[in-house]
Amino acid sequence: MCSNDFKILKQGAEAKLYLGNYLGKPTVIKERFKKKYRHPDLDESITKERIKNEARSIVRAKVAGVKTPSLYLVDFERRRIYMQYFEHSVTVKDFIINIKKKYTDDSAAKLNKVARIIGENVRKLHIHNIIHSDLTTSNMLLVKDDEKDINQELVIIDFGLSYIDTRAEDKGVDLYVLERALISTHNDCPDLFSKILEGYKAYSNTNIKEILHKFEDVRARGRKRTMVG
Ligand SMILES: Nc1ncnc2c1ncn2[C@@H]1O[C@H](COP(=O)(O)OP(=O)(O)O)[C@@H](O)[C@H]1O
Ligand SMILES: [Mg+2]
Repeated sequence: MCSNDFKILKQGAEAKLYLGNYLGKPTVIKERFKKKYRHPDLDESITKERIKNEARSIVRAKVAGVKTPSLYLVDFERRRIYMQYFEHSVTVKDFIINIKKKYTDDSAAKLNKVARIIGENVRKLHIHNIIHSDLTTSNMLLVKDDEKDINQELVIIDFGLSYIDTRAEDKGVDLYVLERALISTHNDCPDLFSKILEGYKAYSNTNIKEILHKFEDVRARGRKRTMVG
């Protein structure tokens, strides 16, 4: 349970998210609950690890120039992270679904723009060796600024599975996870991922080329596995 008038915002597989006020600011509390099927000691160490990953990468991503929620408090005892709540935000998932629902002349342009921004931001994470490990459109928010109709400021969240690694292979896998997620969630947007890759490659260097090479390898292996069943 959560005190101080925090209301439940989302209930996920690993955590409950509460919404309320902390030190006068709109705040999300992400509380990871106990998993009964795990040994309590193991459960505690996994949870602690996830909280640490999340806190570390939220801060590191910011340094990399990727917008993330401000981190307010980490409470290992109560398995919680307190962070900035983006009130006027929509997940990229809902943004895309809504655009598809009421298709207008500039829908394609809007989608392409968002895809490109996603690519640029994932590249920034990778340049700083942050592997997110759960890149999906539910883990990206578009934040509205002021009264503008569409705002394309992208926020990346949910860093619990993230880690720091320099290897091109890990970055390639990160891209592959994103591609798979898009195929299952947005199968009506077949060229979304290629637009994301355009953004990713925009400032190409040898490092990026190596990552893309690894990505192709991982994808080919994935295909093979699918064919075998
Ligand atoms: N800082 C935030 N501001 C606004 N909405 C958020 C924020 N953090 C999470 N959310 C919302 O809650 C959902 C779940 O949060 P997330 O951190 O991805 O937890 P989970 O591990 O359960 O996926 C997100 O998809 C988003 O809709
Ligand atoms: Mg999530």
